Order: sequence, then structure tokens, then C-alpha cells
Amino acid sequence: MLLINSFISEAIRINYINQKKIHLFTQGNIIAGRVINVIEDRIVESSGLEEITKEISKDIKARVLIVNKMGFVVSDSYDVLKGSPIRHYELQESLKGKAVAKQHNLEKYGRTMYVSVPIILNTKVIGAVFISASLEEIYQNIHDIMRNFLYLSLISILITGFISFVFAKLISTPIEKLTDSIMKIHQGNLDERVEIRGNDELSNLGSAFNLMITKLAQVEQQRKDFVANVSHELRTPLSAIKLLAESLLHQEDVKAETYREFLQDIDTEVDRLNKIIENLLALVDIDKGKLELDYQITYVNYLIENVIHSLKPLADNKQIEMVFYEREKIHIKLDQIKIQQALTNIIHNAIKYTPNGGKIEISLYPEYEDVVIKIEDNGIGIPEESLPYIFERFYRVDKARARSTGGTGLGLAISQQIVVLHQGKIEVASEVNKGTVFYVRLPKEVRVPN
Ligand SMILES: Nc1ncnc2c1ncn2[C@@H]1O[C@H](COP(=O)(O)OP(=O)(O)OP(=O)(O)O)[C@@H](O)[C@H]1O
Ligand SMILES: [Mg+2]
Repeated sequence: MLLINSFISEAIRINYINQKKIHLFTQGNIIAGRVINVIEDRIVESSGLEEITKEISKDIKARVLIVNKMGFVVSDSYDVLKGSPIRHYELQESLKGKAVAKQHNLEKYGRTMYVSVPIILNTKVIGAVFISASLEEIYQNIHDIMRNFLYLSLISILITGFISFVFAKLISTPIEKLTDSIMKIHQGNLDERVEIRGNDELSNLGSAFNLMITKLAQVEQQRKDFVANVSHELRTPLSAIKLLAESLLHQEDVKAETYREFLQDIDTEVDRLNKIIENLLALVDIDKGKLELDYQITYVNYLIENVIHSLKPLADNKQIEMVFYEREKIHIKLDQIKIQQALTNIIHNAIKYTPNGGKIEISLYPEYEDVVIKIEDNGIGIPEESLPYIFERFYRVDKARARSTGGTGLGLAISQQIVVLHQGKIEVASEVNKGTVFYVRLPKEVRVPN
């Protein structure tokens, strides 16, 4: 505003002064013309000049002097200087034939413009018209205009200031609330949510923030559950080992046979501990290697055959028949080691949870955009209410039974994570005492991250 004000005032000043100058020049020339008409001789004399100077002086509100070529005043509209010489620079220039205007700051009269115009008769300078006009009125005008501008500026500053304040408050209040909530969450209160009002960018930010906190709370809950589960699962075999060892220590004359039996149990529990830790490490590995799948174009047929081959001794042990149906050779991009692990877990389950003499059918076929690996057993099945949980870490349908089968409850969680990493999914259908079907779906065209 200040900048604009000073710019405008300067522009107005220059404009006014220029106009004034032009006006005075014009008047000077008019007077010069009339002076020439009044005098006959080449010498400017006072005959009739008084009236012209006074008349025009009144018209243009300026002092008008007519000077002869010697520099002596012939006529002065103020009747003061008549007969005296004047030596102003402007006049000197005019007597040489130039029209000159200049602004002065006089102690007595304030800002004043001197304009001097030569009186020329037949190409000879015979005198000059000298005008002295006050500029104070112009400056007063400019001053008035600027004062009004200043008032206007002040008013607009006040108005914009007020509007800015209101808007800033409107914007900053929700941000302050958001900051407040973040601080509370920082202190560990994950129940904190931001209040959402309206439908602007800030309320969107608030909603996104709330979503993030909900997710954070879920992750935190999962983490707590996981840690609780892990410690519980590790403590069970440990307390069994402790119990077995103590009972041996506190008995006297224990038979070698009993020693052997108890040590055997301890050995089994240690194996279990090892298995749990191994599986947990596998899960952590998969978590870590999210983007680091080692994709290779692979014939799924051969991969499944490998898994079946490696599990055959276990199945044979329970006289379980394993059959593989393949309609065609299918190759897709996948991480061989990881998918092999996922399938091993599922097929191993089928063997574990199928009674002796059962049958497991494994099929491979394409379906729309997917490749499906179907694993069907005629085993004990999974109760409907347990189905939603079987992919959770440490979940086992029948804990007691699972102990005897030596499960850790991590197998399906691992399989699920591997398949999801491949942008696929696992589906399950089951009926108690009839059997269970697992469908592993892998996309034919996997979007491999760069
Ligand atoms: N084919 C199946 N038939 C019946 N129940 C099954 C089958 N597959 C899985 N389950 C049930 O789902 C639970 C979870 O399976 P998961 O493979 O995760 O754990 P696990 O087999 O108990 O232990 P782990 O595989 O870690 O040694 C099993 O405990 C079992 O109760
Ligand atoms: Mg399992």
C-alpha cells in the first residue's frame, strides 16, 4: 500500500506540474504575442502593457512581468519591480531566445515555478515575458489526495487484516486440534480421535489421520497379542521341560527306563521349541523381505511334484494316498522357495489332520486370471466357527490335539503371508469329519515391483 501510494503521488505530482508548465508556457506565448501587437517599435515600452499583464495575471493567478531586452522590468502585474533589472537564470536564457521553466522553493512564497518566454519580433529578441506562479495550491491538492489515499489504505488494511485473522483462525483451529490429538497419541492414548467438521481439505486430513490412528491401534493390538502369544507358546514347552527335569531330580532311585522316558519327552519339547522359533523367524523373514521376492519363471507342475515327493514318507507312514491331477503344464513367475514352503505347510496339514488310510487330492488348473492349486483331504475337517481364525498366528482348532500332532499354529499364517506377497490368496472350505479343501490362487501375471 505504501509503495503504491508513493508511486501514485509521484505520478500525480509529475502530471500536475507538467500541465502547469505547459499552461504557463502557453500563457507566456499569448502575452508575448499581445505585447508585439501593442508596440509599434522594436523596443518594448510601457504603453498599454500594464493592462495586459494585470488582466492575464488575474486570469492565471500568477505574477506576470514584461522585461525589455536589457533585462529591465517594463511592466509588473504587482507594480513593484517596474524599472528595476532582474537577473534570474530563466530570464537570461529567454533573452537569448529560449523558453525556459524551472521550479524553485522560495523561502517567502514556497514552491514556485518561473517561466520565461522570449518576445521575438522579426527573428530578433526584443524582450521577455516572465511569469512566477505559485505551486502551493497544486501541492496542497496532491497532499489532499494522498491523505484520502492513506485513509483508504488504512481502512483496507483494517478490513483485510480482520478477514485474514478470521480465516487464519478458521484454518488454525482445526490444525491446533490435530496437533493436540497428535500430542495425546504421542503420550500413548491411541483412543484419541480428531473431531471432523465440514468437508474441506482439513477435515479430509482429519479423517485420514483418524484412519491412520485406527490402523495404528490395530497394529499395536496385534503386536501385543503376538508378544503375548509368543511368550505363552514358548512358556508351555519350557514349563513341561522344567517339570520333567524337576520330577527326575526330586525322585530317588529312578529307574534307567524312567530316565530314558522323561528325557525322551524333554527332547520332544525341545524340538517343539525349536520349531516354534524356526517358524517365528520364517515369519519375520517374510515380513522383512516384503519387496524382495526372488521371482523366477517356474513350472508350477514340477514345483508341486517336488513338495509331494518330499512329504511322501509322512503320508506313507499313515497309509495316506496322495494324488496329483494336472490338466496342463503351467508356468508363472514366483519365488520358488517361498511358494514351496507355503504349499508344504498346507499339504503337511492335510496329512496331519487326516486319519490313517485317508486320501489327499492335489489339482492344478487355470481359472480366469489365476492359477489354482487345490488341496483336498478327507480328514477331520475344521468346525465352521474356527474357519475365520485358522490363518492367525498360533491359532489351532484343538489345542490338546495339536500338541499331540506337534503343531505350532504358525504354518497357515506363514503360507497366507507368502501367497499374499505374491498378490494371490488362499481360500478354505471344510466340513467336520468329511474333509477340508484349500485353494491357493496365484495370479498368472504378477505385477513385479521394480
Ligand atoms: N487340512 C486340515 N484339516 C483339519 N484342520 C486343519 C487343516 N489344516 C489346518 N487345520 C487346523 O488349522 C490350525 C492351524 O493350522 P496351522 O498349519 O497354522 O498350525 P498347525 O498345523 O497346528 O501348526 P504348524 O503348521 O505350525 O506346525 C491347525 O491347528 C488345525 O487345527
Ligand atoms: Mg500346519
